[in-house]
Amino acid sequence: MSAPVIAIDGPSASGKGTIASRVAKRLGFHYLESGALYRLVALLSLREGTMQENRLVELAEEMDVLFDDGDILLGDEAVTEKVRSEPVGNRASEVAKVPGLRQALLRRQRAFRRPPGLVADGRDMGTVVFPDAELKVFLTASPEIRAERRYKQLIEKGIDANLRALSRDLRDRDERDAKRAVAPLVPAPDSQVLDSSALSIDEVVERIVGWCRERKLGGPA
Ligand code: DC
Repeated sequence: MSAPVIAIDGPSASGKGTIASRVAKRLGFHYLESGALYRLVALLSLREGTMQENRLVELAEEMDVLFDDGDILLGDEAVTEKVRSEPVGNRASEVAKVPGLRQALLRRQRAFRRPPGLVADGRDMGTVVFPDAELKVFLTASPEIRAERRYKQLIEKGIDANLRALSRDLRDRDERDAKRAVAPLVPAPDSQVLDSSALSIDEVVERIVGWCRERKLGGPA
């Protein structure tokens, strides 16, 4: 039997990353931030100035990536900050439309499924990558709340940001992610939809951990 998976999907800035990694810690599970893989390909594609499908597939297959407790290494270069930047995020949503690239990243993502279990966040974890996930959560929040959260995050990190431009970028990215032909952002029919607009991070984590416990997933708290 393969290790259990908890899939957490949702739009940009819905808080998936923070919440999924905390749920993984609570359960003692591994964690996959699938968006980081798309962002890494986006960074390489920006550096090379290419959007050619063949080349994107090669980059995805060959990139030497290490996730180390929140830090991301590309070969021996620390790229955590670069990968999280807005230009890279926007490019990621462009490269994510390319079918060959999505296919190339499937195997890499599935390799994260190891005992005792995996919490995976992204756009298509429950629909495409892990359709047999034990628990699927579709995490959302209103566009205004998401733009504000992303704005605060950037300002706290000392990165200059503009709320209006952020709202516009988020809207464009949502639209691209939801309308693309391959693996669009949609809730899996068997997912629990959770709107976090009026909830704190702790409340969302507790709710998801509660659903896991009901399903006997994860080690003792
Ligand atoms: O979760 P994120 O914002 O880091 O993701 C960046 C982009 O990558 C997002 O706009 C769409 C794409 N993506 C995807 O298509 N499928 C995933 N499973 C994760 C991310």
